[in-house]
Amino acid sequence: MSKILVTCDIPGKGVQLLTEAFGEQSVVVSLQDGVIPRKALLEGVKGAAALLPVLMDTIDAEVMDAAGQQLGIVANYAVGYDNIDVPAATARRIAVTNTPGVLTETTADLAWSLLMAAARRISESERYLRAGKWDSWRPQLLLGADVHGKTLGIFGIGRIGQAVARRARGFDMRVIYTDLQRLSVNLEQELNAAFVDKATLVAESDFISIHCPLLPETTHAFGAAQFQAMKPTAVLINTSRGPVVDEAALAQALESGAIFAAGLDVYEDEPKVHPGLLACENAVLVPHIGSASRETRAKMAEMAAANIIACLTGKTPPNCVNPEVL
Ligand code: DGY
Repeated sequence: MSKILVTCDIPGKGVQLLTEAFGEQSVVVSLQDGVIPRKALLEGVKGAAALLPVLMDTIDAEVMDAAGQQLGIVANYAVGYDNIDVPAATARRIAVTNTPGVLTETTADLAWSLLMAAARRISESERYLRAGKWDSWRPQLLLGADVHGKTLGIFGIGRIGQAVARRARGFDMRVIYTDLQRLSVNLEQELNAAFVDKATLVAESDFISIHCPLLPETTHAFGAAQFQAMKPTAVLINTSRGPVVDEAALAQALESGAIFAAGLDVYEDEPKVHPGLLACENAVLVPHIGSASRETRAKMAEMAAANIIACLTGKTPPNCVNPEVL
């Protein structure tokens, strides 16, 4: 019997697929509706052949060693896997998998929701109305920025960045992007996106949307220097990972008017949010809900389960990020 630890109650059929494949006795689901406490994780993982964590669970060497040598797979319930020490997993011949593709469009939708909300001051307007402050239509009330016809800068043009670029067509925008590698000419044409260097992206964009993975090279890729170089009317959107943005510097830039607004789904030290950001009316802040649609979260669960089923039945898990272990 293979023990499988699912660290959180996940939606959809993922757990059902696992119990159908391995029997009810094998699948242990932590009933926490949030992060499993570290002690419970270290205890619960003992003897597990598979671990299905969520992105708030830090899966490091200590967890892998607590599991024991039979641990064959860590199937992350997320596309990002910066919560997992992949080199430590590789050294132990443990496969690490993620859930790419299924959340691309949903996350792009959220990036656009934040972009529109920040541009048109939606959160601030709603707070104003609910506080009973609205006494009359006024020509100068809550003026925001137009989105249509502006320049959208995409920082990181992987699957999600491309989906964000596609949506810009309907808004008749100029799209520029920067990344380590340039897209093919065909894809650039399809997306109507022009490759620029980071300095140009920062200086020319009216909206910057961040879609890079968190790496040492992308940590604090946006800080005081970039905010100073951005247009004072610019809006920054981050749905990738919090540490890509220096939150203290962003709070300062929003407060001083160095940039117009920001829309954030991710934070440097989740679930904590920098108090300076909380104090900014021009920051639209949501709690890491990029992939949070019923359909997508269900698909992610099925995908994570499929990776575990493949691994534990001797097949190749479809979404392995360290295939050298297979
Ligand atoms: C991910 O998958 O990496 C998102 O941040 C959460 O779904």
